[in-house]
Amino acid sequence: MTTKYTPLKDHDTPIKVLFTGYLCTVGMGYLFALMQILFTHGMADGKFGLSIDDIVYSYYGNRSGTVLEHQLNGGMKANASAQERFNMIEWVRNGADEEDYKKDGIEKIIEERCVMCHNETASGIPNFKKFEQLKALTTEDSGATFASLTRVSHIHLFGISFIFMFVGLIFSFAETTTVQYKCIAIGMPYAFLLADILSWWLTKIHPMFAWLVIFAGMGMAVSFMFMWVTSILEMWLFKPVFIDGIGARYLQRRDSTEPSIVDRLLIGLKMLSEQAKPVAVWLMDRVLTELKGLFNKK
Ligand code: HEC
Repeated sequence: MTTKYTPLKDHDTPIKVLFTGYLCTVGMGYLFALMQILFTHGMADGKFGLSIDDIVYSYYGNRSGTVLEHQLNGGMKANASAQERFNMIEWVRNGADEEDYKKDGIEKIIEERCVMCHNETASGIPNFKKFEQLKALTTEDSGATFASLTRVSHIHLFGISFIFMFVGLIFSFAETTTVQYKCIAIGMPYAFLLADILSWWLTKIHPMFAWLVIFAGMGMAVSFMFMWVTSILEMWLFKPVFIDGIGARYLQRRDSTEPSIVDRLLIGLKMLSEQAKPVAVWLMDRVLTELKGLFNKK
């Protein structure tokens, strides 16, 4: 079949640099997003690391107590001493009375420990200078509010679809995989993105759907990684590795003209383990020649 597009490896170096720059930057972005998830949702159950409980608490809520209490034992634990947290929780359990607020010294703790972040200039988090906003958090913890879900949903849908637009566009020039696999890889993140957003709302309604949050999130990450790795490898390694290079040896050995995707992954792994050094040498050489060429041309 003749291709109607320019394969990744045949793009001009400036375009490859542009694609690579974009991929590396969104790759970093993805890592920071994962860290962010670990530090906000991951702490919801008071223990570091993401679990099903974290997801249930974040979206459905931990209905056996109040938001303030759970935050003081979870994400906000580090912001006050054990004694201060104990006093605050006691005040909440005694009904979070406005008179007791001053009398029990809770106001002082909040002013000293919390308002530096929880004030009128912070967006998206409650302002504790207003007693009503603090009071609102002393009722049953029913997880994410509809307002916050709406906000995060639209930001994610707009933002992430853009990321996958460009990652998918770059990957669409790849030739390692068949058209069929390419369609799946490019379409999958959108399906997972919709499933992910939907799963937040479903988990808000019933905790059973927490597994869907994990599943959709992982699906999105896997499709991202697949497109990322394939694109980078094809741009900078394709020719010598797969056609007349190291990879071709494995292809011949296996007597196959049209290797499956599993074969290609195996080849990649074998190549990495056995040939890491020559590849690094070749890569350095290649980069240097490209750079030299770039500066000599003018
Ligand atoms: C360093 C800044 C900072 C400090 C100090 C801080 N918070 Fe927070 N707080 C945040 C941020 C950011 C969020 C939202 C993200 C999250 O849930 O982790 C938040 C969320 C919360 C929430 C959940 C709000 C909601 O709408 O669900 C509660 C409750 C809370 N904080 C209580 C406290 C209390 C009580 C203190 C003082 C002991 C405190 N925070 C100190 C930054 C801070």
